[in-house]
Amino acid sequence: EKAGYKHFMQKEIFEQPRTVADTISGFSSQINEDLYNTVVNADRIYIIACGTSYHAGLVGKFWIEKFAKIPVEVDYASEYRYRDKIINDKTVIIGISQSGETADTRFALIDAQKEGAKTIGIVNVVGSSLSREADYTLYTYCGPEIGVAATKTFTAQLIVLLLFALELGLKKNTITKDLYEDLQQKILSIPSKIEKILLKEKSIKDIAYKYMNASDFLFLGRNINYPIALEGALKLKEISYIHAEGYPAGEMKHGPIALIDDKLPVVALAPMDKFYEKMISNIQEVKARKGKLIAVATEGDENIKELVDDIIYIPKTEDELYPILTVVPLQLLSYHIATLLGKDVDQPRNLAKTVTVE
Ligand code: M6R
Repeated sequence: EKAGYKHFMQKEIFEQPRTVADTISGFSSQINEDLYNTVVNADRIYIIACGTSYHAGLVGKFWIEKFAKIPVEVDYASEYRYRDKIINDKTVIIGISQSGETADTRFALIDAQKEGAKTIGIVNVVGSSLSREADYTLYTYCGPEIGVAATKTFTAQLIVLLLFALELGLKKNTITKDLYEDLQQKILSIPSKIEKILLKEKSIKDIAYKYMNASDFLFLGRNINYPIALEGALKLKEISYIHAEGYPAGEMKHGPIALIDDKLPVVALAPMDKFYEKMISNIQEVKARKGKLIAVATEGDENIKELVDDIIYIPKTEDELYPILTVVPLQLLSYHIATLLGKDVDQPRNLAKTVTVE
């Protein structure tokens, strides 16, 4: 069942090159004119989800706004449901749910549908409730995810959101055909880049060993990698029970910098994108206060070595594609911290894989 892996979570992390590739190849056949016309004419999109799926939505907002130029709001389903909604027939709601059974997400979609919104589900489980209730469904092709911690379904949700944003952009003429084709090519190389990150498992485990006794962690990212900081913190807390927070790096000086001392590990997402220099300044702020720094950085970045305690290198890609790579080392880091601490990573305490109650 676990195909030689110790836990389902580890197996599912290692399945990602394949599940990402399958989700890329399965995407286009799910699209029809009707769906596109609905979204192309939308004046606003709400993305509604819980937990890890919510973090995918936060990344999706960047892509849809950048490529399709449609304003997007992302909300926790449990919050969205009880707000006074502003909905008209040009409102599109995208509900993201691996299981398709999460009560808050399902009911938020159903309520909005009743008020006239068009609804799209991004779902992994074929035939699940959400896939039947939504007007349109886009599937991730991951097969069953057994570990309570969402891993392979997150990267697949990102792929669906990215491909969808690019198709909308092409249709709306808000991106050029050249950019579209260039990015499609780069997306095809994502599975082999994930493969390269997975080869670093041993060194990530060494880093896990070094920091496993910390009582708190801070994860920092900027822009499109900020939601990955949130996701890294969620992964760590749910399976290792270590308190962790994710923050936009630029917000540090507005509060959380007070937490930093020589015992606090700070995971900094610092790929070589257009926010690199700003991230380096944030890293320097942490270093000046003696925080322990673990950087996720781009292969070939030698400069960062003297600023941080530990580095996990990821392959170079386009700025917009980094979140699909930066999350992978964070999954492995939390997996190894939790297993080294002897926790049951596949069935963490107090948690269910699917939350079918409010
Ligand atoms: O099945 P869903 O995607 O709707 O589930 C949403 C959350 O319950 C889920 O992502 C949860 O946060 C995971 N345990 C995260 O690893």
